[in-house]
Amino acid sequence: MEENNKKEEGLDLLEGEKEILLDHDYDGIQELNHPLPSWWMKSWAASIVFAAAYVMFYHFAGGPTSSEELARDMVKINELKAIAAADVSNFDIAHYNEWKDKNDATALGNEVYETNCLSCHAEGGGGDIGPNLTDGYWIHLKNRTPEELFPFIRDGFEDKGMPAWGEILSKEEIYAAINHIIELKGTTPPKAKEPQGEEVEQI
Ligand code: HEC
Repeated sequence: MEENNKKEEGLDLLEGEKEILLDHDYDGIQELNHPLPSWWMKSWAASIVFAAAYVMFYHFAGGPTSSEELARDMVKINELKAIAAADVSNFDIAHYNEWKDKNDATALGNEVYETNCLSCHAEGGGGDIGPNLTDGYWIHLKNRTPEELFPFIRDGFEDKGMPAWGEILSKEEIYAAINHIIELKGTTPPKAKEPQGEEVEQI
């Protein structure tokens, strides 16, 4: 009975709630004034300070627009892409194809071959110190594809006298050499060395 009375009078208060009980009463409904937690008030104040600084910087003090930021980031991305593209440790067929579309691959291939490969692989790829590159016989490869030729030309086979061209040529010069070897397929060189290795060429 006593309990009920207390409720009716709005006095069902916990310890310490008397001080925060607001001084009004709406049809017996009373309110407590719980202040917002201090972390909330502090973040709110900080967000106002941040917003003011943000507006000042981006709208009045010449801060970059989103498209300027994008352009700046794209420059960085393109620089990194160029570095990755020049790095001979990786091979990307899309980059090779892009290079082929943009350049006179045949002319560059002839040039690289004559300067660097002809001394061992002979005129027209017929073979001399190095094997014949026109037949379908390979000592080290399975196919005449850029994916297989790139790492082989880059690393060479120095024990048998094939230099590691990754240390000498640029990535694009290796691309040119690859293109030349692909173009040598099925051609008839002036002097063809006998086949070496296995007949494994699939394409
Ligand atoms: C100093 C001599 C020499 C030069 C220069 C040289 N090669 Fe070779 N190359 C060889 C020899 C020797 C082999 C065979 C290695 C073996 O028997 O394992 C070979 C093998 C190869 C093969 C693999 C052939 C196969 O049957 O598996 C390719 C492809 C090749 N060379 C491409 C090139 C290209 C491209 C260049 C120029 C950038 C070049 N070589 C320059 C000596 C040379």
